[in-house]
Parts: sequence; structure tokens; C-alpha cells
Amino acid sequence: MKILVTGGAGFIGSNFVFHMLENHPDYEIVILDLLTYAGNLETLKDVLDRPNVKFVKADIADREAVFALFGEEHPDIVVNFAAESHVDRSIKDPGIFLRTNILGTQVLMDASREYGVKRYHQVSTDEVYGDLPLDRPDLFFTEETPIHTSSPYSASKAGADLLVQAYHRTFHLPVTISRCSNNYGPYHFPEKLIPLIISRALADESLPVYGTGENVRDWLYVRDHCAAIDRIIHGGRVGEVYNIGGHNERTNLQVVKTILKQLNKPESLITYVKDRAGHDLRYAIDPTKMMNELGWEPTTTFDEGIAQTVDWYLANEGWWKNIVSGDYQNYYQKMYADR
Ligand code: NAD
Ligand code: TYD
Repeated sequence: MKILVTGGAGFIGSNFVFHMLENHPDYEIVILDLLTYAGNLETLKDVLDRPNVKFVKADIADREAVFALFGEEHPDIVVNFAAESHVDRSIKDPGIFLRTNILGTQVLMDASREYGVKRYHQVSTDEVYGDLPLDRPDLFFTEETPIHTSSPYSASKAGADLLVQAYHRTFHLPVTISRCSNNYGPYHFPEKLIPLIISRALADESLPVYGTGENVRDWLYVRDHCAAIDRIIHGGRVGEVYNIGGHNERTNLQVVKTILKQLNKPESLITYVKDRAGHDLRYAIDPTKMMNELGWEPTTTFDEGIAQTVDWYLANEGWWKNIVSGDYQNYYQKMYADR
């Protein structure tokens, strides 16, 4: 079995590569990644030399390069993680989100049709469902919840999802889609909330919390997400959407305080900054379909996962300091200087 993993040098894609190597050691893995600011080849350094792993630097929206790769490799399965993934960046510059997330998906699916791929899996997000009110804890996103987006990021992911469903209906491309809640864990790029807080708290820097910090996210340990995708590509029904989440809702303030406690750092580092435009209030996934149909359930609780994640960032300072010392600093200035 040969599997093409796009975006495999990013946070979730790299964890998925590690998951597949551990759980399907006989598979061949081809990783396609453009190595944008979010891609880090260093993450993959321990596996790149394996005989069953190949890395190709290319843009998923580059039709010629993608078709050439499919013609050479003939993958059986494609799992598309490649995306622009940060909501704040999508507010600053939406265009690249449309190009990568929508047109890139189209190119990958066209190549999948041309070369008879047996399964095209689109890694989507719960953000396509918009948000839920804070005062209705009884409400959850199911696969039937209407698409209703808030940010250019979520709109671009929703556009891609609709295109994936259209390619299934019109061209009978064997597709599946997964919509997961917020992930956390090792190799999370340090501009996202959890690694940002860990890295800045370690340096005794102020911790920017948007608005009141009452927004709720439903956190899932990244390896549980990877295990769910593994189940879907092997046992999921073609044409179906699967929601992935573990009922781990926390306000942003709760998350920040949990990390501070573990690092033994003071809450006085918390700084309330101007809220994100269009900031979604609450995400909460109902994962019943994954559990009933595919027997998946998360194995890592939030308390265990966050402790492991903080330990990982402590033990792997080199990984994130390399990022923080580079481009990331300019980005940070640009994003936060006027707050
Ligand atoms: P990430 O930003 O860490 O990684 C994205 C990867 O895609 C990077 O390696 C980057 O170099 C690569 N990439 C970007 N543009 C590319 C292009 N044009 N061609 C080829 N490669 C390109 O993102 P992530 O957090 O790992 O998210 C992966 C996927 O999972 C995304 O599709 C995202 O929408 C989805 N998702 C993320 C979360 C989350 O909490 N992070 C939750 C649900 C779904
Ligand atoms: P983020 O990690 O960007 O994920 P998403 O917006 O896709 O859910 O943000 C998680 C939450 O944390 C979100 O409600 C915004 C908030 N947040 C802050 O309060 N401060 C920050 O510096 C960042 C990056 C996010």
C-alpha cells in the first residue's frame, strides 16, 4: 500500500506520518509539502532516511508538479493535510488560503481521478460548522450541522469540503472527509495558542489572551486524531463525513492557567489583548458516528495530554527555539505590535 501524505512536514501531518510508520510499517509513505513557514523538515529528520519514506517539496496547487508526482508514484491512498491553517493569518491575508486550501484540493482530486486513487481523504475542521453559543452546553456539532463559516480560513476549508463532495457525486471519486476539533501535542507550530503560551511563559513573556478568554475550544491530542484518520481511510464509508473530537471543552483561560500551573509560572503573565475579528465563541464536536461506526475513541485525556505536551516542549527546546528565533519573531511583531 502506498500512501501520499500532503502537508506531512506540518503539525498534524508529521504526527500522522509517525503514526503510520508505527502502525503500518509495511506501507510506503510519500510526503508532499511545500515547506511554507509552517512546514519544518527537521520534524521529519528521524524518518526521512527510511527506505519506505520519500519526501517531495512541491505545491499542491501546482498542477504540473502534482500530476508528475502521481504519475511517478501511483499512490493508493491520498490524505490531504496541506493547508494554510491559522485563522489570524487568514484575517490578514485571505488570498493564499483560497489558493492552497481550495485550488490545491481541486488539483489533488483531479490527479486522484486521473491516476485511479482508491481513497482520497480530506482533512477538514470543525470550524466549517461556525460556532455555538456559550450558554447552550447541550449543543454539539454533528455531521448534519449546516456549514456556516466565520473566518476566511474556515470558509476556505468549507469550500474545499463542498468540492470534495461534488467530486464524489459527479465523478464518483472515492472520498472521505474528517472534521476534527482543535489539536494539540508535539510539533505544534509556536504561533498557535498552546505552544505559544508554553514558549512565552518559559521566557517569562506576556501571554496574549484574546478578548475575555472565555471562548471555548474542544481539544484533542494529536495522536488521537491520527488514529481516527487511520480508521477512516481503512474502514470509513466512501462519500461520508466523520466528526472527530473527545469532549474536552476548555475556555482559553482554563488552558492558559493549566499550562502556567504546570510550568510553575505566575498568572500575572496573562495579558488581555484586543479580540480576534469574528472570533468564534465555542466549538464542540459530537463524535458518536466515529465511535459507533468505526470503534474509535480517544485514548489521551486532556490532563494527560497537556502534561505530556508541556514535557515535550521542555525536552525539545531546540525544535521550537529554532522557529521562534527566525521568521516567527517578525510575524509576532506584525500581528501583535498594534494590540
Ligand atoms: P500546519 O500549518 O501545522 O501544517 C500545514 C502544512 O502544510 C505545512 O507543513 C505546510 O508547509 C504545508 N503546506 C502549506 N501550503 C502548502 C501547499 N500549497 N502545498 C504543499 N504543502 C503546503 O497545519 P496543521 O495544524 O498540521 O493542520 C493540518 C490540517 O488539519 C489542515 O488541513 C487543517 O485545516 C486541519 N485541521 C487542523 C486542526 C488543528 O487544530 N491544528 C484541527 C482540525 C483540522
Ligand atoms: P488557535 O490556536 O489559533 O486555534 P483556532 O483559532 O483555530 O481555534 O486559537 C485557539 C484559541 O485561542 C482561539 O479562541 C483564539 C485564542 N488565542 C488567544 O487567545 N491568544 C493567542 O495568541 C492565540 C494564537 C489564540
